[in-house]
Amino acid sequence: MSLLTPPELTATAADTADVAEVSESLIVLDRTHAELNNPGEDVIAGLGRSPKTLPAQYFYDDRGSELFEQICQLPEYYPTRTEAWILQHYAAEIAQVTNSHELIELGSGSSTKTRLLLDAYRDTLGRCHYLPVDVSGGILGSTVNHLQVQYPEFSIQGLWGTYDQALAYLGTTQAPSRMISFLGSSIGNFNAIECDRFLQKVAAALTPNDWFLLGIDLQKETSLLEAAYNDRQGVTAAFNLNMLSHLNWRFQGNCNPDWFVHRARYNTVDGQIEMYLDCQRACDITFKTLDFQVSFAEGEAMLTEISRKFQLTQLEQQLNRQGLKTVQCWTDPQSWFGLVLCQTQ
Ligand code: TRP
Repeated sequence: MSLLTPPELTATAADTADVAEVSESLIVLDRTHAELNNPGEDVIAGLGRSPKTLPAQYFYDDRGSELFEQICQLPEYYPTRTEAWILQHYAAEIAQVTNSHELIELGSGSSTKTRLLLDAYRDTLGRCHYLPVDVSGGILGSTVNHLQVQYPEFSIQGLWGTYDQALAYLGTTQAPSRMISFLGSSIGNFNAIECDRFLQKVAAALTPNDWFLLGIDLQKETSLLEAAYNDRQGVTAAFNLNMLSHLNWRFQGNCNPDWFVHRARYNTVDGQIEMYLDCQRACDITFKTLDFQVSFAEGEAMLTEISRKFQLTQLEQQLNRQGLKTVQCWTDPQSWFGLVLCQTQ
């Protein structure tokens, strides 16, 4: 369900003001909050690499967000339910320890898991300012509407835009006590350099003694990992291929998704799942609005996503280097997934 057009298309908002409120409950973050970001520049850069890559943010148009919600419910996809288990057991403790008045969730989607946190905040604090951030305006708008009904005592406002835009925007606002949450191991979708940059921006959006709650998928057996990204129903394949339809729509492309097939494999050396779209036939693809053409060879693999799997101690060191001091880590009985709570120094 597409309630709204993407931020780039709301020209009046994007060009005239820093932020625009399309309604009281949704703030559109515009390009002035991103670091130099020409639309599509990232696509051109990625397709110029070897192997070709596509930027992961293009997974999440409204259709992609819907498919991702389905992935989260697949029997093979353990991260969502494992993280939910951890939250079920420790959300109350998190709310008590952090005592935050403002909760910002990066990449909120339908905020299903976050309801566990919101319930805990309601029980301990009675109130909270909740700011879900998502690039997909459709899912963000409907989530905010539902949550406003379910949590009338909270103030809830969606931030519609990218993580970068949201973190830059937060740097310009203040809260007495703030927590940024980043669940679902989405941090694993950044490479090591992007990850460091991202953590720097998170730290910059916080003031001393604020909080950062991070969900991370931990290293485990290859068979379990590969099954999670190669589900039997083909939902992950549809999700991966939807990126091509999204790019076609966004940049007037002529890429036929039927020419590509989904493949995921675990790279044990780098400790990461790698998601590919393999091209089945030689073809030239044009993106009209980018004035850009690219050729694919038969059998050529294009990398669309990595999903890094972490070791807790290593990640803790990385967080600490950015001034995000780990206060506590929770995990499930099988140690499949971790939830790390950090505090800024
Ligand atoms: N953050 C999710 C993860 O790394 C994203 C994800 C799940 C994903 N399944 C996917 C991304 C399939 C691309 C394709 O687990």
